[in-house]
Amino acid sequence: MSEIREIETPALLVDLGLLEANLARGAEVFAGRGLAYRPHAKTHKSAAIARKQLEHGAAGICCAKLAEAEVLAAAGINDILITTPVVGGAKIARLADLNRRIRAAVVVDDPGNAREIAAAAARAGVVVDVLVEVDVGQERCGVRTPEAAVVLARTVETARGLRFRGLQGYQGAGQLVRLHRERRAAVERASARLRLVVAALAEVGLTTAVLTGGGTGTAALDVEAGVLTELQPGSYVFMDASYGALEWEPGGAAPPFAQSLTVLSRVISRPSPRRVVVDAGLKALSSDAGPPLVMGLDSARFSFAGDEHGIVELDDADAPALGEAIELVPSHCDTTVNLHDTFVVVRAGEVECTWPIDARGRMQ
Ligand SMILES: Cc1ncc(COP(=O)(O)O)c(C=O)c1O
Repeated sequence: MSEIREIETPALLVDLGLLEANLARGAEVFAGRGLAYRPHAKTHKSAAIARKQLEHGAAGICCAKLAEAEVLAAAGINDILITTPVVGGAKIARLADLNRRIRAAVVVDDPGNAREIAAAAARAGVVVDVLVEVDVGQERCGVRTPEAAVVLARTVETARGLRFRGLQGYQGAGQLVRLHRERRAAVERASARLRLVVAALAEVGLTTAVLTGGGTGTAALDVEAGVLTELQPGSYVFMDASYGALEWEPGGAAPPFAQSLTVLSRVISRPSPRRVVVDAGLKALSSDAGPPLVMGLDSARFSFAGDEHGIVELDDADAPALGEAIELVPSHCDTTVNLHDTFVVVRAGEVECTWPIDARGRMQ
């Protein structure tokens, strides 16, 4: 076993003790009041972590993309919901084929797409579980009205090769709303839209066994709202600087989950005692949600200085020496993970093992 400071940098670190604490806390928060939870693997893209989530009581796993699901299925995960529509003949054939090996449910928001999946399923001799995606406020995918949901659910219900399972209503835009009361309001609006769709389906005799949605930012509020039957949290396993900045309870509270993911970088140049250059830039840390935080140095500021370089500046203390390691907290965990091949798994300051990021880059 080696120590953290001996790790070659830049490297993506996972603190196993903190990850395990997040998994245990997640099981408490998400499975409250009898809800099921199906964690989203788009965050970690790792069979090892998916298996741990299942050991912690998850009902199955979500994937964003078919290719992600194929990779996790090959690693033994056998109950997956693909939370993005699968469109186009070649991909639909792959979806049907995947259902020969595992249960791979999918969302739809278009009757023609549903019919194509039904035809491919019939050809492959499988039945594909289907959820109708409802736009509950994100203005991304999903049917916009209860009437459209009824038409689509009926198409699914009557198609040989498909089984209608329920609805997906994911309010992505609500996850990172900073203020607790505004996040709650977003959840209430989303829940009201989903309730209308459930009522419209019930009127024509369609039962929605599964109502799936929610993420790390809204999960506790979704449990309170009492509409969803299944939550899809992703980031809770790692957290990031964006989630760390939320108001978690009215008036403020520490995040319910710990920061278990960091990027380890190293000082490669020291132009002045208050300004150092580290070996992690845009290829080691995603920038879509801004720069990372510098762990343990509250007054330090990180700025990207190119693909391979970052600059760390301090106002009131000397920066670490040349060759010293600096841990950075990614601003967005999902997109940072996707830049790396491997997690370096550490516990109490020692490297325990590495895990491959199995579905890294698998977006087709
Ligand atoms: C459909 C869907 N469900 C769940 C999640 C998980 O969200 P989070 O990482 O905020 O927990 C995402 C994230 O983008 C998503 O797109």
